[in-house]
Amino acid sequence: MAGGWRRAGCAAALGLSAAVLALAAAVLLRAYVLRSPAIPRLWARRGGPAAFSAGERLELKEALRGAIKIPTVSVSPEDLNTTAMAEFGNYIQEVFPAVFSSKFIQHEIVGKYSHLFTVQGSDPGLLPYMLLAHMDVVPAPPEGWDFPPFSAAEHEGFIYGRGTLDNKNSAIGILQALEFLLRRNYRPRRSFYVGIGHDEEVFGRKGAMTMAALLEARGVKLSFLLDEGSAILHGVVAGVEKPVAVIAITEKGSITLNFTVEKEPGHSSFPPRESSIGILAAAMARLEQNPLPSLFGHGPELLTMEHLASEFRFPLNLIMSNLWLFSPIVSRVLAWKPPTNALIRTTTAVTMFNAGIKLNVIPSSAKATVNFRIHSAETAAEVLEAVRNTVADDRVKIDIVEAFDPLPVSPWDDQTFGVHIFQRTILDIFPNVDSVVPGTCIGNTDSRHFTNVTKAIYRFNPLLLKSDDLPRIHGLNERISVESYEKQVEFLFQLIQNCDIQRLPEPHANSHEL
Ligand SMILES: *[C@@H]1O[C@H](CO)[C@@H](O)[C@H](O)[C@H]1NC(C)=O
Ligand SMILES: *[C@@H]1O[C@H](CO)[C@@H](O)[C@H](O)[C@H]1NC(C)=O
Ligand SMILES: *[C@@H]1O[C@H](CO)[C@@H](O)[C@H](O)[C@H]1NC(C)=O
Ligand SMILES: [Zn+2]
Repeated sequence: MAGGWRRAGCAAALGLSAAVLALAAAVLLRAYVLRSPAIPRLWARRGGPAAFSAGERLELKEALRGAIKIPTVSVSPEDLNTTAMAEFGNYIQEVFPAVFSSKFIQHEIVGKYSHLFTVQGSDPGLLPYMLLAHMDVVPAPPEGWDFPPFSAAEHEGFIYGRGTLDNKNSAIGILQALEFLLRRNYRPRRSFYVGIGHDEEVFGRKGAMTMAALLEARGVKLSFLLDEGSAILHGVVAGVEKPVAVIAITEKGSITLNFTVEKEPGHSSFPPRESSIGILAAAMARLEQNPLPSLFGHGPELLTMEHLASEFRFPLNLIMSNLWLFSPIVSRVLAWKPPTNALIRTTTAVTMFNAGIKLNVIPSSAKATVNFRIHSAETAAEVLEAVRNTVADDRVKIDIVEAFDPLPVSPWDDQTFGVHIFQRTILDIFPNVDSVVPGTCIGNTDSRHFTNVTKAIYRFNPLLLKSDDLPRIHGLNERISVESYEKQVEFLFQLIQNCDIQRLPEPHANSHEL
């Protein structure tokens, strides 16, 4: 769902290299100074390593496969497969008996099908955190799949099925990690919550929103919240060879508008000069031809580039280390491809257009719907204003279908508990990853409903994704490698133990570039 960092336009970078070389002497020093350090080893790994047995590895794989087979599809807020959602609830009780029988874990069903677990730590003085995931999946008609989408077929080391990446891997992975910890007689020191929503794909109003309201009513404040939304990207950012863990610190807002043009209907034998269709089509063309401006440099995508600068190969590393100089060019390069364009501006997507009923009748009305995804430096009200100015035609009526502002940007610094924990745990479990960078989630997640219980919301799935994996999310042949899923469970197993630390260690001299 997050995605976004596909090829950032290597051709442009090559074309630029002559100019870059001329400037190289001036900027080399700066590139060196800005190089982000390897993640410092701040404290020793906590708790026992996972070292899952062969039996446990088989068990964790089968638990995920069983969950994939339950078709927990949500089509719209009113159209959910609630039979499957109830079945999912029974299924997790069956496969995670330790979680459901633990004396220090409280289980609640929220909004009929979502699950909220309160894991009571031994030290009530420590601020709790929350792990969030969802069980529902988008529809998956079987056409075009190599294996049926709810078969959980295993093929060449992969499990195929809707929900393997989005997001049963997290929902089942979190409970699996907890189950294994409990069987090792582990009791956390720090309390935490586990939330499994059932309507994330259709706005999360019954699941996540109710859970958030419940926590707020109980006066809960979270140290951080971790949800899906980004991943460890390998070969996805053009010019960066090594895998990079991108943790989204915000997500885009959204506004959907309906546009309507009403005119007197008439016969096609004596048409008016302009029809409702012509007027509306012209308005849509103006919107597409006048996109909202690039805001590169005003949102977290600038932080992403700065933190990644040293990972780019030459000469991109110089360009990215010197955005004070190159940012207009980088912005233009990013605008070329839709996935990177989506990071730097509010996007415009004309999604519906309807008019006309008969071949010789001038229709009385034409309707269109446009969805804008709002960059974090803009608000829904500003987008609406800009759209009115671009359309600039009173005959086009504009109605708001839905609107919400971009999410606040979560803290990203060495004083932030969650950020330390993520870096630490990534280093423990993915030793070949040495860049952990903040990013933007261009989709939306359930975490956006929790802004009243924490300012530290992070979207990250501990999974290695390659370019070829991104279109599988909500697409055909969604799949996860068995190895990746084992790593995900290991990551969660380690993360829970790492969170038991009481205080962050003193910042290391090298660590302020977190
Ligand atoms: C809903 O899920 C149940 C299994 O829980 C399944 O038997 C049924 O076919 C599903 N319904 C639809 C419309 O997919
Ligand atoms: C917007 O248009 C869609 C599609 O025509 C329609 O279903 C919806 O009710 C409209 N909403 C508003 C607020 O006009
Ligand atoms: C947060 O609290 C405010 C004030 O009570 C409320 O208006 C708002 O809807 C809440 N936000 C969320 C996401 O629940
Ligand atoms: Zn999802």
